[in-house]
Amino acid sequence: MLNKKLIKNGKLIDIFLKNYLRKQKKTNLLTPMMYGLLSGGKKIRSNLILDMGKIFNLKRSKLFYLCAAVECIHSYSLIHDDLPCMDDDRFRRGKLSTHVKFGEAPAILAGNSLLTLAFEFLSDEKFKLHDRLKIKLIKSLAICSGHTGIAGGQDLDLKFENKKRNLNQIIDMQRKKTGKLFSFCFSSVGIVAKKNNSEILKLEKIGEDIGLLFQITDDFLDFTSTKKNTGKLTNKDIKKGKKTLISLLGYKRSLKFVNSLEKKILSKLKKHGRNAIDLINIINFITKRNY
Ligand code: IPE
Ligand code: IPE
Ligand code: MG
Ligand code: MG
Ligand code: MG
Repeated sequence: MLNKKLIKNGKLIDIFLKNYLRKQKKTNLLTPMMYGLLSGGKKIRSNLILDMGKIFNLKRSKLFYLCAAVECIHSYSLIHDDLPCMDDDRFRRGKLSTHVKFGEAPAILAGNSLLTLAFEFLSDEKFKLHDRLKIKLIKSLAICSGHTGIAGGQDLDLKFENKKRNLNQIIDMQRKKTGKLFSFCFSSVGIVAKKNNSEILKLEKIGEDIGLLFQITDDFLDFTSTKKNTGKLTNKDIKKGKKTLISLLGYKRSLKFVNSLEKKILSKLKKHGRNAIDLINIINFITKRNY
């Protein structure tokens, strides 16, 4: 049931992205950009945006701009994450990684172009939102993507390889590399719904916790799942000396950590009653998934 919904929404976002790109000038980079961005990917972040937007009664036509911006940032981060100087991964989403297919330089430049495309979406004139709110969105996404967010977290992830690191350091790295974009998925919906700063802060926090849960369960998949299920090579984190919860605590104690983080998130969501059912289903998916 949920899987079907994820796929259906994913297709709608892909159509929205494709239609937007179709109207842009044709360039060489468009091909690797589209390869890295479209056809594939669970669109979990977009689905969280759409379900959170439902709680605030927001129109999908507005939410799609947020989804598009987030998927561009996410895909850019994956293209760069797979590069030889980072995780050196040859497969992604069941296909060759973008740099394997097109070469390193086009992959780096396509990644850069997806990063900037995200901000084109948020500042687009067809995105019907007050300029003041658009500026808030743009600033927030910039903070979540740069050195205090994804890029900073990725830097720590690489620097931590084969080093001794404690729980707080690992969690901090994971909150940055993955949590911050999830935090934007929630706070951006609050911004569009014109919520006040303290409400937006609460949304940021729950989003970041969900992102942390997502990264830890991604690390679990590397440990327990297969390329057939995930579309990417597994069993790589240990070989690369990645600092994950599993590397520090072992699988069983990490599972306990995940269970208590999941409980904390669910108890916050349950305060919203029936409205939060869709979001709760996504949390269940995140912890039970095998891809
Ligand atoms: C993978 O993200 C990278 C992490 C942040 C763990 P996803 O698992 O959401 O990747 P796709 O979009 O479904 O391929
Ligand atoms: C990636 O984490 C996080 C990003 C922000 C790109 P991973 O390196 O574990 O993601 P996968 O397993 O390659 O998808
Ligand atoms: Mg990585
Ligand atoms: Mg990786
Ligand atoms: Mg991983």
